[in-house]
Amino acid sequence: MDVKRTLDGISPEQLRGFFVGWPNPPSPHTFRRLLAGSSNIALALDGNEVVGFITAISDGVLSAYIPLLEVKPEYQGRGIGQKLVADMLEQLSGLYMVDLICDEKMRPFYERLGLKHGTGMLHRNYANQSGSPPAKA
Ligand SMILES: CC(C)(COP(=O)(O)OP(=O)(O)OC[C@H]1O[C@@H](n2cnc3c(N)ncnc32)[C@H](O)[C@@H]1OP(=O)(O)O)[C@@H](O)C(=O)NCCC(=O)NCCS
Repeated sequence: MDVKRTLDGISPEQLRGFFVGWPNPPSPHTFRRLLAGSSNIALALDGNEVVGFITAISDGVLSAYIPLLEVKPEYQGRGIGQKLVADMLEQLSGLYMVDLICDEKMRPFYERLGLKHGTGMLHRNYANQSGSPPAKA
């Protein structure tokens, strides 16, 4: 299982099979666009197949937020999620704060990786769940 930190050579076709359970998921093209727009990414690859990913958005000075982490169902439970989070924490190790929001049931997973529990607040615009349109030039 390789971890890749760039999108070089990754096509939208390789990005199918994610956002499992989302009522209104981004298309593979939109998924590629959000990866390209993230400040940091890590992709887990089994050969040419992308089987997991994590993204971060950062100001590059103090802070970063980790919005998305997913491993394809058939690859879950093999340590890939943990490897992706560890890789992202390494990429962001020069920053002061790295935050994410998760379900309560995921707390032990993140605590094992050294993250601490806090309280978060959320805003969701469900009309845009499949992705906002590309910005006009
Ligand atoms: C969460 C996720 C990325 C973990 O990926 P993974 O490759 O299976 O993770 P690892 O193999 O490194 O670690 C597995 C551990 O994650 C934790 N975990 C995963 N899913 C969990 C769930 N639904 N509830 C509680 N713990 C869970 C467990 O501790 C599990 O350990 P176990 O296999 O011994 O039970 C993967 O389950 C996934 O893609 N889930 C759907 C999307 C999602 O929930 N993303 C996280 C948003 S915060």
